[in-house]
Amino acid sequence: MKILIIGSGGREHTMAWKLRRSPKVTEVICVPGNGGMAGLARCVAANTEDFKAIAELARKERVDYVLVGPEAPLAAGVVDHLKAAGIKTLGPTRAAALLESSKVFAKDFMTRHNIPTAGYKDFHDAEAAMEHLRSTKTEYPLVVKADGLAAGKGVVVAKSAGEALDAVKRIMIDREFGDAGDRLIIEDCLQGIEASYIVFTDGKTVLPAAAARDHKAIFDNDEGPNTGGMGTYSSDDILGGELEKEVMSRVIQPVIDGMRAEGAPFQGILYAGLMLTAKGIMVLEFNVRMGDPECQVILPRLESDFAELAASLCEERLADYKAVWRPGAAVCVVLASKGYPGPYEKGKEITGIETAEEDPQAAVFHAGTSRKGDAVFTDGGRVLGVTAVDGDLASAIKRAYAAVDKIHFDGMIFRRDIGAKGLRKH
Ligand code: AMP
Ligand code: GLY
Repeated sequence: MKILIIGSGGREHTMAWKLRRSPKVTEVICVPGNGGMAGLARCVAANTEDFKAIAELARKERVDYVLVGPEAPLAAGVVDHLKAAGIKTLGPTRAAALLESSKVFAKDFMTRHNIPTAGYKDFHDAEAAMEHLRSTKTEYPLVVKADGLAAGKGVVVAKSAGEALDAVKRIMIDREFGDAGDRLIIEDCLQGIEASYIVFTDGKTVLPAAAARDHKAIFDNDEGPNTGGMGTYSSDDILGGELEKEVMSRVIQPVIDGMRAEGAPFQGILYAGLMLTAKGIMVLEFNVRMGDPECQVILPRLESDFAELAASLCEERLADYKAVWRPGAAVCVVLASKGYPGPYEKGKEITGIETAEEDPQAAVFHAGTSRKGDAVFTDGGRVLGVTAVDGDLASAIKRAYAAVDKIHFDGMIFRRDIGAKGLRKH
């Protein structure tokens, strides 16, 4: 099989790495790819928004199918375009991608289909939102969310009216996230334990991925602003059997049935961001793609053939695929540039990647790097994801941090507590 991946992050590096472990895969092409994929994939520089060029490349190279990593091309309709050109593609159409690209759509959809989520109001103008925040009836903390895509940074958990008013100003007046701030949501703040539940679906069959948990805040103990994700772990006890059944019946199946009933059937990877509250499961958000860095712990735990999984999804025969997951745990620690999620410096030389990878149970996935000859330099906010797998969570954590300790670049920051929540009893 020959496969084309769209994207350039740690998630896409992990997909390329996993595909190359399949005996059926002869070549992986990545548009545009990144500095870490050399040897795994042929990187082709092209604009990921130029769907015509991508379709031409896919046809010329006779790829078996296209995997779309990030949300932006999905929201812009890459799947509609490629499928219309007769190219098999893994991902939802533009209409189905609204579950992620519009938080207002997602909240209204959940209300229509009785899917549990926090109470909310949506606003089209800053004045009305601010008036609501100043009302004596409004209780804090609450959560302010930009409607559109904001790379995980458009959500503010506000402890006071001052913080919430500032979030509205940044989203709607300063337009920090551009058009994503045309509308916003103000929702009730939920307390509980977060979990990501990710499934593969061809629209008929649902195949759950290994459960994973993200660490979104920049600092240890979930302090500081949210990022795209500073690390993840995957282990079998994140969602127990009963909880998993509840997520399937109250969240995942209603989404699949509801989207079909509304004329936008969902096919691809569906990611439910959940809060396990005292009152039961609540949905925080949907993503319509693999998580990043969730992918960096999920695919290393997949023992069966990923290329075959993706092919059977694209061909709507996922029911025939038998997934086998490795028991135990995986941990991914993200190494980021000083300043992230705000402005950060680039161009710092990275050392120690090869030494870190001497452990056969560790892998270093590149998120924002560039390569000059043999040297690798920082080129993004999230720079590397260091993953390790082992028989249990404590051992996987130890292994991942042992690999992290081998790597260095100027201004390198990372969380010291990735996976620690999983060791606590809750
Ligand atoms: P989202 O992109 O909607 O998942 O939000 C990003 C992060 O903000 C989540 O992972 C949570 O940590 C936090 N968050 C979002 N919505 C809520 C909520 N209603 N209550 C508490 N925390 C939230
Ligand atoms: N790690 C969260 C996300 O991919 O949206």
